[in-house]
Amino acid sequence: MIGRLNHVAIATRDLAAATRIYRDTLGATVTGAVPQPDHGVTTVFVELPNTKIELLEPLGENSPIAKFLQKNPGGGIHHVCYEVDDIHAAVKQMKEKGATITGSGEPRIGAHGKPVVFLHPKDFNGTLIELEQA
Ligand code: CO
Repeated sequence: MIGRLNHVAIATRDLAAATRIYRDTLGATVTGAVPQPDHGVTTVFVELPNTKIELLEPLGENSPIAKFLQKNPGGGIHHVCYEVDDIHAAVKQMKEKGATITGSGEPRIGAHGKPVVFLHPKDFNGTLIELEQA
């Protein structure tokens, strides 16, 4: 069911510093920082030839990555995002297989303007998984 790796998301307390690491130390192409108040994060994308890295910094109260950064003060890999052709078919399959979808369990528009769901890490080797309809 899952297709391409769309991105790996890395949470950080200091987006500017993380951006410098990817741009200046690693020599990657990075986008500008985009505040996403609806999602409680500010994002920068690192554009790689075969995928993207999404750098995430908390924005505002109740950021979905605040708890993660409490547990991982130095930052770390927050989730991986796989592409699916049909988000509703993917949700149906995940429910049939007994996987836990976080939140309401229904797709919502994600930080990239496309429908997404998140799968609970307890069912996936401790990794939070985002499924995005490509
Ligand atoms: Co993501």
